Amino acid sequence: MSALEDMRDQIAEVDVLLTQQAHELSVMLNDHRLEIFPPNAQKTLRPFQLNEVAHYLGVSSGYLKNLSLEGKGPQPLVTPTGRRSYTAEQMLEMRRFLDKNGRSAKYVPHRREGEHLQVISVVNFKGGSAKTTTTAHLAQYFALKGNRVLVIDLDPQASLSALHGFQPEIDRNESLYEALRYDDDRKPLSSLIKQTNFPGLDIIPANLELQEYEYDTPLALAAKDGAMGGLFFGRLDEALAEVADNYDFVLTFRRRRAFSSPCIRRCLT
Ligand SMILES: Nc1ncnc2c1ncn2[C@@H]1O[C@H](COP(=O)(O)OP(=O)(O)OP(=O)(O)O)[C@@H](O)[C@H]1O
Ligand SMILES: [Mg+2]
Repeated sequence: MSALEDMRDQIAEVDVLLTQQAHELSVMLNDHRLEIFPPNAQKTLRPFQLNEVAHYLGVSSGYLKNLSLEGKGPQPLVTPTGRRSYTAEQMLEMRRFLDKNGRSAKYVPHRREGEHLQVISVVNFKGGSAKTTTTAHLAQYFALKGNRVLVIDLDPQASLSALHGFQPEIDRNESLYEALRYDDDRKPLSSLIKQTNFPGLDIIPANLELQEYEYDTPLALAAKDGAMGGLFFGRLDEALAEVADNYDFVLTFRRRRAFSSPCIRRCLT
């Protein structure tokens, strides 16, 4: 056997070993996650105290308490000591109740005709600079303020998805990649959207496949010379247009690794 063939055999053996170990690691990770977060477990949301609800709605605590005493609107849970709390769903219900029974409709802040969908991207080249945290807080705050929010997790690490109970290793959720891919298997964006434990906040979870888009895009660009901007941003715009009417805010964020891709760097500059 020549030295070259010998080397090829050794490389093949290492490949098999690596694949085997990756599989074993994946099984162990799954077992661990199943133990701490069973697949059928639902993320819940804590109840909100009366003064928090008053803050989110923009009314006084006294007004809210009077509504409860008069039996008007959604009824809070009252503890034996008289503390009142509402679920997030009840907060939304209260907005609709106030709009219906008040002088003016101002508590459901859905955008009116002619108002644009707000798309916010949280971007920073530096790792660990609170991109995920900022996106999560913005998305949850906007939802608690009564807006319809779609957050798109573009980080293959899927930490924002995990925060809302979507585990890529277990749930095998489809990511935005499915709506942007360059082959015939492209899917409508609406089929990728999942509800979260925050009413009014939907998510397109991330998974490792998102990484593929960074490799597919330069190939597609090479094939369709000059159509770079249209390919990258156009596809995202096109995919979003399908669901735009259902939302007031779309939030995305991306970790720094994405910008190491020459394609995306060129598209952004
Ligand atoms: N305002 C803050 N005060 C203190 N700690 C914070 C704050 N914001 C974020 N952190 C913490 O900083 C760390 C990094 O935040 P985060 O994961 O959001 O950053 P990131 O930019 O998404 O990181 P990566 O580039 O790895 O995706 C986390 O442990 C987070 O809990
Ligand atoms: Mg992050």
